Amino acid sequence: MKITVVGTGYVGLVTGACLADMGNHVVCLDVDARKIQVLNEGGIPIHEPGLDEVVRRNAAAGRLQFTTDVPAAVAHGTLQFIAVGTPPDEDGSADLQYVLAAARNIGRLMTDYKLVIDKSTVPVGTADKVKAAIADELAQRGMSLEFSMASNPEFLKEGAAVEDFMRPDRIVVGVEDERAVNLLRAVYAPFQRSREKLVVMDLRSAELTKYAANAMLATRISFMNELALLAERMGADIELVRQGIGSDPRIGYHFLYAGAGYGGSCFPKDVKALIRTSSEEGLDLKVLQAVEDANDAQKMVLVNKVVAKFGNDLWGKRFALWGLAFKPNTDDMREATSRVVVAELLARGASVTVYDPVAMDEARRVFGVEPRIAYASGPMQALEGAEALIIVTEWKEFRSPDFAAVKAALGTPVIFDGRNLYEPALVAEAGLDYQAIGRPQTRRVPR
Ligand SMILES: NC(=O)c1ccc[n+]([C@@H]2O[C@H](COP(=O)([O-])OP(=O)(O)OC[C@H]3O[C@@H](n4cnc5c(N)ncnc54)[C@H](O)[C@@H]3O)[C@@H](O)[C@H]2O)c1
Repeated sequence: MKITVVGTGYVGLVTGACLADMGNHVVCLDVDARKIQVLNEGGIPIHEPGLDEVVRRNAAAGRLQFTTDVPAAVAHGTLQFIAVGTPPDEDGSADLQYVLAAARNIGRLMTDYKLVIDKSTVPVGTADKVKAAIADELAQRGMSLEFSMASNPEFLKEGAAVEDFMRPDRIVVGVEDERAVNLLRAVYAPFQRSREKLVVMDLRSAELTKYAANAMLATRISFMNELALLAERMGADIELVRQGIGSDPRIGYHFLYAGAGYGGSCFPKDVKALIRTSSEEGLDLKVLQAVEDANDAQKMVLVNKVVAKFGNDLWGKRFALWGLAFKPNTDDMREATSRVVVAELLARGASVTVYDPVAMDEARRVFGVEPRIAYASGPMQALEGAEALIIVTEWKEFRSPDFAAVKAALGTPVIFDGRNLYEPALVAEAGLDYQAIGRPQTRRVPR
């Protein structure tokens, strides 16, 4: 099949590469000429495990092309996937300018039937706006070409995006006509050989499904984060509570980890957008608002612990920070807790030495020129001259440090762990004050 993917970011590049891997001829379009140049020179603009191999294989085979040429991209694909960004507007609603610009390009330039597929996360009713934009462009040209609209939200996780796309749990498609569903069935057939994974529904239900999924996962995290605060006060261990409730199949283990708050390009923005959509409809969704408020507060939990230990005036103190990406296996720092922690420490006069296995370049871009931020070449190097260690991202390489060496390097032997990486008793045995999330410092039950 001939496929165009509009927007070559995390979602667009993974979608394009994986669809090409199944033998389709894919053209990926982006307005960012630098990104397209990097891809055309054999580079990958993002860190995503396994993606470079799929991209290189299919680019070499001529099935995957990258361009900034809008007319050529519109002419190419019968299927036009829209995978551009939908960042939050000032009021929290999703900014649809990129989606609608992509739609208008299609309407302005198409000369034959197109199936236009929204893959971006967009508020309920956006497919109607996209349809209207395309129809408007066609009307301006005095043309009445046929096109179908579909909503096909993406559920991939950064850090496991290729795997998720290749082996999806489900493929949600919102459609209005048979031609659209038949085309989508055909394009997704290679991804569902073991069982039927297509969940076919109307456009609006598909749009809401994506928000519902992210809001549910964010809710679980905020719920556990609030319980962790209570556990700390009451001397209970949230990690044991997690195991105790996760074993109930009605609850399950996923997304029950207490931590220093969720970040990334999806949860914060999608929860905000859903709150905004509901308030526009005159609905005050209390659970969602609480999920967001709890998360905003949770991003401060590490800073609060640092302040409780060292006081509010941190002048002259340097802190080591392990982990900058919003989660492991990505260099994405959008809405990352590390940004809040660094900003709050700097605001109190502290200096920081940061280390992340892959997000160092991104951190330099995000933080800009700031003499009080130093960039270390490794986790142990980050500890040099540091008063204490703060862990913000649960990268594998942070899981088994030499605690004796950590203790020796720090001015005050304390670890603030925002991701509950260690067994508290083990860290305490090494003579370190271990301040995790919702966990007591010592184990009080025999194993
Ligand atoms: N990142 C994720 O994990 C994830 C997962 C599921 C869904 N989503 C959703 O998918 C969408 C894309 O997210 P992303 O993380 O890939 O964004 P991104 O910012 O990484 O990529 C978006 C790309 O679109 C390009 N673009 C903007 N306007 C364009 C236009 N008119 N024509 C062509 N290209 C254009 C940008 O230059 C950018 O490269 C968002 O709605 C997001 O919510 C993201």
